[in-house]
Amino acid sequence: MDTEPDTGPHSAPHAETDSAPHAGPHSAPHSEPNSELETLLRSLRVWDTELPAFDPEATPEAPLPLFTQWFAAAVAAGQSEPHTPSLATTDAEGHADIRTVMLHGADARSLHFASHAGSAKGRQLAARPFAALGFYWPVQGRQIRLRGTVRTAPAEVAHTDLHARSTGALAAALTGRQSEPLATYEELARASEAAWERAQREPDARVPSWTVYELEPDEVEFFQGDARRRHVRLKYTRHEGGWAKELLWP
Ligand SMILES: Cc1cc2nc3c(=O)[nH]c(=O)nc-3n(C[C@H](O)[C@H](O)[C@H](O)COP(=O)(O)O)c2cc1C
Repeated sequence: MDTEPDTGPHSAPHAETDSAPHAGPHSAPHSEPNSELETLLRSLRVWDTELPAFDPEATPEAPLPLFTQWFAAAVAAGQSEPHTPSLATTDAEGHADIRTVMLHGADARSLHFASHAGSAKGRQLAARPFAALGFYWPVQGRQIRLRGTVRTAPAEVAHTDLHARSTGALAAALTGRQSEPLATYEELARASEAAWERAQREPDARVPSWTVYELEPDEVEFFQGDARRRHVRLKYTRHEGGWAKELLWP
């Protein structure tokens, strides 16, 4: 009998047989395939283009300079919106969550994004200050994953960040209440109208909930897709005083 604590992913529950606790995911109950979706899925391919070479021997000792090189190459290759990664967090129960954010900046240690402290992600980060960012740049078959600790920048940094952006960005931030339930769309339209007026009247308005988050990675993985599936995966892991590099099986 399985005596492991019930903490890992479950196979989807199966009505008759699934009584014992499992450490892994439950098997899913049988359901009819969505044939329209499956037909579409089978018609799609990835990487119908020439993919760049990636020599892991010729990489810097630390990952962020390589991130910058790959980012510049993605922009040069015409990748649309390369600065919009997925941000994964966990809530206080350890349940995963994910959404798209915009990369606002970086320094030698960390990558920066911004949001409202009261949003779902803001509350999750307050409870568990760890996150992952995932970038996918299909034009070059490249993916970058970063995991690490998240810190909040000083309030003045958040103020400067917000006011370096457009009036629309300020109006959106002033509208606030991100991730709260919205009763009607009209309520949003009214709040947004008022926020736009205030943003134009008071371009230096403060938005106390607006927060710049800095993710300092402990692990960074660079993935270069290969047409013959010999994908190159190079992982950097932080250790005392530097970084270790290793290759991973694809
Ligand atoms: C391309 C794109 C960029 C986004 N950038 C941001 C961002 O920089 N900050 C932000 O708070 N939400 C951004 N969003 C909205 C988030 O994906 C999300 O809907 C919102 O932050 C609420 O997430 P939460 O409920 O998990 O806190 C962006 C969405 C898209 C599609």
